[in-house]
Amino acid sequence: MSEIEAKLEMRKLKPEETPQSLAQEGYNSSAYRYLDWNSSLEDDPRVEWLQKLFDRLWENGALDLSTTKALDLGCGAGSSTLKLAQTCAHVVGVDISSAQLELAKTKLKDAGVPSDKYELLEADMMTPEFADGCFHAICAFYSIIHLGLNDQRTLLERIYAWLEPRGLLLFNTAAQASAAEGEVMEGWLGMNAFWASFGQKRVLEVVQEIGFETVDSDEIEVEGDSDFTWIIARKPASN
Ligand SMILES: C[S@@+](CC[C@H](N)C(=O)[O-])C[C@H]1O[C@@H](n2cnc3c(N)ncnc32)[C@H](O)[C@@H]1O
Repeated sequence: MSEIEAKLEMRKLKPEETPQSLAQEGYNSSAYRYLDWNSSLEDDPRVEWLQKLFDRLWENGALDLSTTKALDLGCGAGSSTLKLAQTCAHVVGVDISSAQLELAKTKLKDAGVPSDKYELLEADMMTPEFADGCFHAICAFYSIIHLGLNDQRTLLERIYAWLEPRGLLLFNTAAQASAAEGEVMEGWLGMNAFWASFGQKRVLEVVQEIGFETVDSDEIEVEGDSDFTWIIARKPASN
């Protein structure tokens, strides 16, 4: 447990709460606080891992700017959405927090990304209906962790369907497994944040049970926070 977490009260979800209601409320009220914290991180592993993803897409022959489609689940203030938009033909960012999406919109606009290169969707990531095989790459940074474990598995199955054969998933999750149902960290960056994780060993098994091949994974400490497992998984060419 990190120093930040050690000071936090952990508790169970209350009956009137859901992981989604806490995420929406929390990130709407703490959007700027999260942005400040995130921007202060040195050596953010996402830069290296996005590059690994782009390298793999090149290998796949998928990184043709006229066609590559990406999805960023829980896109937050859009730092990864921007990199995806600058590299791929089109990116869809999904987030449950309107405040986070406003920040993402500003980030993309300020960077001069043409509006037809991206779509920002305000939704619970469990709800969008995308066609099978419609994305080459799907990312989820520090976001799947805010879902319950059953939803995480269901989402990973949906992601598998949304990827084209040889499509790539890049995501991270807490390396340490959570208490079975997940728990609420009271007062993390001023919000009550639900988190759950299968933990490093089990999440790799789940990814493989769904049908993915794991092409890369590592456990990395994020400054001032817990260790996160980073995973790139590929949908096989034929299934
Ligand atoms: C820790 S932030 C990470 C944001 C961004 N991916 C990044 O790495 O900077 C988690 C984001 O996931 C979003 N989120 C949490 N639960 C969600 C859900 N069920 N559906 C969509 N977005 C969700 C939050 O609103 C928040 O913007």
